[in-house]
Amino acid sequence: MKSEIRTIAMTVNGEQVSVDVEVRALLSDVLRHDLRLTGTHVGCEHGVCGACTILVDGESARSCLILAVQADGSTIETVESLGSVSSLSALQEAFRENHGLQCGFCTSGILMSLCAAERHGEDLEETLGEVLGGHICRCTGYQNIRAAIEAHWAKSVTQ
Ligand code: FES
Ligand code: FES
Repeated sequence: MKSEIRTIAMTVNGEQVSVDVEVRALLSDVLRHDLRLTGTHVGCEHGVCGACTILVDGESARSCLILAVQADGSTIETVESLGSVSSLSALQEAFRENHGLQCGFCTSGILMSLCAAERHGEDLEETLGEVLGGHICRCTGYQNIRAAIEAHWAKSVTQ
């Protein structure tokens, strides 16, 4: 059964978008299915795994816990905003160099949480456990993710 439709407007990765959504639609689904931003992954759909993490008005948020209509008027950033295959961000490059991912399912969410932590000026050495504690990775055992973040952190403090 279809629910009521509303038109919402958001700034997504720097672009103004307007999209018709069912009032029950999750932001994660609208990003993936309506806006084709499939870098945001959906695992648990109840706020536990962290795969769907994006930035909403600069703060990290689980997009599976937000109705799209709640994001009306918001500024959204997804992993697609960080870089591209030919031009990775410094953090993405650190993950690549240190084999910080295997299947990659968890990676976009981790990158977005780290992005928020960096912007807030957090000392990643201190908050790393807390940030990673919000993300479930089934593949890596976290060692290479930690290595990637530590390498990135070491590089950024010497620049
Ligand atoms: S899909 Fe949102 S936290 Fe798991
Ligand atoms: S790299 Fe596969 S779940 Fe993290």
